[in-house]
Amino acid sequence: MQLICITKLLAFRKEGCHGSVLRHELGMSKILAFAGSTRSASYNKLLVRIAAEGARAAQADVEVIDLRDFPLPLYDGDLEEKEGLPDAAKKLKARLLEAQGLLISAPEYNSSITGVLKNAIDWASRTETEDEKTLACFQGKAAALLSASPGGFGGMRGLVHLRSILGSIGVIVLPDQISISSAHEAFDSAGQLKNERKRDQVLALGRGLAEFLIKHHG
Ligand SMILES: Cc1cc2nc3c(=O)[nH]c(=O)nc-3n(C[C@H](O)[C@H](O)[C@H](O)COP(=O)(O)O)c2cc1C
Repeated sequence: MQLICITKLLAFRKEGCHGSVLRHELGMSKILAFAGSTRSASYNKLLVRIAAEGARAAQADVEVIDLRDFPLPLYDGDLEEKEGLPDAAKKLKARLLEAQGLLISAPEYNSSITGVLKNAIDWASRTETEDEKTLACFQGKAAALLSASPGGFGGMRGLVHLRSILGSIGVIVLPDQISISSAHEAFDSAGQLKNERKRDQVLALGRGLAEFLIKHHG
């Protein structure tokens, strides 16, 4: 039994993050983590990395992606009809399909979510073929949400909208969420939260998602 597990672990290492069948056999949950910002110095990118660390500590297989690496045109029905889904949308959908969980740190723009994040969700919600299941990338996935903003509310108003959007496309959004206010002062030069209590809460949020997935996906 132990030998089988070691053999599977070695094979998983060789196959890397796309070894979805082996991941399933090993009982590991896959989480896709990203920020709703493409900015290089994004506070939300720093924040989601900390939550990802918490999820990894609870044995989840976490992939952190940068939406900048998925350059999408603004959704346009004419463009979709003429050219189908852009390559970046197909790639993003493939990553989402592989995951059972989502960790999203979303900046707040004008009391809502960023255009970048909404546009990514909109493209990923489109099907490519007639037999493709609608919203397969999202349905039944679990998500934990975070936000960071230099403002006093830490971007929490945007999370109200994100929770609603994700809920309406079939994502189970966990009740706990974290918003980091005064984000411009909250992180040290290594990208860690200076306030240890907050850091522990963010780690616990990531861990909570991993534990939820283990409980519900085995
Ligand atoms: C167009 C725009 C609108 C914004 N609106 C809000 C807002 O409503 N509430 C808020 O707390 N911050 C707002 N901000 C500030 C962002 O929270 C800040 O730029 C933050 O650093 C963005 O997240 P990031 O660091 O992950 O890129 C806004 C910024 C921009 C560019």
